[in-house]
Order: sequence, then structure tokens, then C-alpha cells
Amino acid sequence: MTDTTETPTPKRTQQAGSGGEGVRPIDSWETDFDHTHPDYAANAPQIWDELRDTCPVARSERFGGMWLPTRHEDIAAIAANENGWYTSHEVVVNQYSADDVMPPPIGGAPPITSDPPFHVDARRLLLAPFAPKKVNELVPFATDFCHSLLDSALAKAADSDGVFDAALDYTQAIPVRVIAEMLGLPAEDGDIFRTFIHHIVENPIERELEEEETAEYYLDRHIAEHAANPKPAGEGDLIDHLLGVELYGEKLAPEHVRGTILLLIVAGIDTTWSSIGSALWHFAQNPDDLKRFRDEPEVRPFAIEEFLRAYAPVTMARRVAEDHELAGCPMKAGDWMLLPFPAANRDPDMFEDADKFIIDRQKNRHGAFGLGIHRCLGSNLARMELTVALDVFVERVNEFELVDPASVRFSTGQIRGPRELPIRVHS
Ligand code: HEM
Repeated sequence: MTDTTETPTPKRTQQAGSGGEGVRPIDSWETDFDHTHPDYAANAPQIWDELRDTCPVARSERFGGMWLPTRHEDIAAIAANENGWYTSHEVVVNQYSADDVMPPPIGGAPPITSDPPFHVDARRLLLAPFAPKKVNELVPFATDFCHSLLDSALAKAADSDGVFDAALDYTQAIPVRVIAEMLGLPAEDGDIFRTFIHHIVENPIERELEEEETAEYYLDRHIAEHAANPKPAGEGDLIDHLLGVELYGEKLAPEHVRGTILLLIVAGIDTTWSSIGSALWHFAQNPDDLKRFRDEPEVRPFAIEEFLRAYAPVTMARRVAEDHELAGCPMKAGDWMLLPFPAANRDPDMFEDADKFIIDRQKNRHGAFGLGIHRCLGSNLARMELTVALDVFVERVNEFELVDPASVRFSTGQIRGPRELPIRVHS
């Protein structure tokens, strides 16, 4: 039998990625949308569904001018970029001038900030470390780490009426620890990574950072330490790998090594944290799905894909590189183009009962990891972490529920998932 559940809506949200724009009220989602606005985070699936019917490519003058396509067909065509109409040089919408970012072809975080032909060569350098075989070697490490997190969380719950925060005490720590292990960075630097992500993805207008606080300073120090202490062949970590590989017959430029490490930190943490959190949020409110996941191991691989489809966390961005028309709308060079892969995943022309969570959905060619040449390089790792995190959780926690739906806090901006998720567990 198939379980279907309406995908629920978060109650409370956090403004992020706003650069100060997010508080201004929205006039209309068709002409004034803002993906950093709290109302967008709270209602995004409904907004996409309405726009798809009425105005499939929405426009906003915020952030200097943005477009928001909502149909799978348009999002896939933009991601494929066959005419070269878009550039990936900037992928997070911000208030800065394009002159402030690192020049092409490397950009600030290769390969995501690189366009063809450089992109494919920069991407190839990362394929081996993220191949299934390498990722599977990390399963015991990730499993032990998830158990250690739950040891602490459940001890905390025993002293506080069964309550702990599934986002803060569990989900947020998992991708941080795994990527630190892969890169050979200190296990205790998770908070430092999250601060970098906060500054890069959310662009808060706070204060000028001291040099020692910047990601560049931190990474340059660790890259220099790795370079000074080379490891025997086959024993190195990902930083050693990047220092050892060659592109066009030469070692990588220092800004390439640094940018790629930063990308792996930024791309791998909030994304996977969001996916694991959304899955637990769903289980907390849908005990029948939790029961099937626990009792029917054969359903689990389908459930993982359905979590990725129904709660896809990542909306990417591009800049329009050449004036052209899309769905009758005039795209101008320099405009921002959002790529809401979560909206593509809800398009009824692509998925039957697109708005329902179907735990054993069989036909599920979702776009959570992207739909074009920049398709996620870390998808094997993300699936592994999501699977291990949920397997360990259902092994250790029998039943659980939200303490209060209103106390769940979701992020806004381009990466969407629960940042505070207080739950009550019953053993
Ligand atoms: C559930 C977790 C994740 C989701 C939903 C996700 C999603 C995405 C998406 C949508 C893109 C961009 C596609 C585009 O712009 O067209 C992307 C790119 C990328 N992701 Fe992920 N990601 C996740 C986890 C990870 C992890 C764990 C890593 C590695 C540590 C990673 C590394 C990358 C890299 C390197 C790229 C750039 C690929 C390129 O430019 O060719 N991601 N991801």
C-alpha cells in the first residue's frame, strides 16, 4: 500500500540572505518576490504552485533585478544552458557588484563558479574523491559519529522531559564532521565552518570582518600546513589531493585550491543538514511514514529519494549573460536568475501527485541535486549521510513528536531547512 501525506508548512522562519531586503513587505509574488522574505520561507511550495499556473517566470526588482521560473521545463533548460545565456560566475544572490567577485574562469569557488569549457576540467578533478566507493568507506565513521551524537542528545532528553533539539543536537553536526574528516581539518572547527557559511550564503550586513576571522585566512593556514607536511601516496586527505592534482599540466593556482575547499564546506553542510532535518520534521508529524521506514527496510531507498524530492533544500542562482526572451519575458544581461529546483520537483507535469509525500514513490527523477552541467558532485555523499543519519535515528529513537510546531524555525534564502527542531522522544 502507498502512504500519501500532504507536505506540511513550517510555522516560524528566520530571515536570511537578505542583505537588508527581506523585511520590506511583498507587493505581489509575481512582480515583487523575495526568496529571503520570511513569508516566502513559510509558504514557498504554495507560492510556486500558484505562480506555475498564473505567471511561470516571476520578476522582482529586488537585488538589482531577479527572475524566478517555477516550471520543471524552464528550470531544466536554464540549468542545461545550451545557448550560453547564463553564467555561473555568481551563484548566491547578493547586493555586491559583479566587479567585487573573483574573475573567471575560476571564480570564487570552482567548479560551481566556473563556466564551460573550464568548468568540466575543474569538475573532473573532484570526481574520484566523491565516487561511491570512496564515500562508502566513510559509512562506519559516519555511523559511529551519529551514535555518539545521540548518546549525548538522549542523555540530555532523559533530564529534560524527553526533549532535545534534533537540528542543533543532531542534524547540524553530521555533515560538518564528515567533511572535516574528508578534508583533514580539525573536528572541533564546526562552528567556524558555520560562520563562513553564514557570511557567504546569507550575506548579512553586520560589520567588516577582521582578517583572522575570514575563510581565506583560515584556509590558507591549513593549506600551508598540508603543503609543509606531505603524506605518502594514497594516505592523503582531500586537501592533499587538491595540492597534488594537475590541470593543463600545472599544479592548481592557490586561489583554485582555496576556492574549491571553501565550496566543499559551503555546498556540503547546510544542504545536507537541511535534508536530514526536513526528514525528521516530516517523521515527527507522520508516524505512519516513520513506522514504514522502520519496519520495511526495502522502502528506505525510495523514502530517501522522496525526502530529497519533496523537501529539496537548494535553490541555485545564475546571472543572465546575454539578453534573450524566456517564456515571453525579457531577460537582460546582469539580471539574477534563480533556479528553484524544489519548485521543479513539485511540477504536476513532471510528477504525479507532486504535492504529496509518497514514501515508496517509484518513478522519481527529481532535480534536488540540480538538472544541468553543475549537477551536485556530492550527491553520493549526501545520500550516504542522509541514509546513515535516519537509520541510526530510527534505531535509537522509537517514537517522537514536535514539542510545538510553532517552535520549529526554518531558514530562508537559497538553502531551506529546519534550523531549530525541538522534539520529544519516547523510548
Ligand atoms: C542533500 C544535500 C545536497 C543537495 C540537495 C545538493 C544540491 C546541489 C545543487 C542543487 C547543486 C547545483 C546544481 C546547479 O547549480 O545546477 C549542487 C552542486 C554542487 N554540490 Fe551539492 N548538494 C548537497 C550536498 C552536497 C555535498 C555533501 C557536497 C560535498 C561535500 C556537495 C558538493 C557540491 C559541489 C562540489 C557542487 C558543484 C558541482 C559543479 O559545479 O559542477 N553537495 N549541489
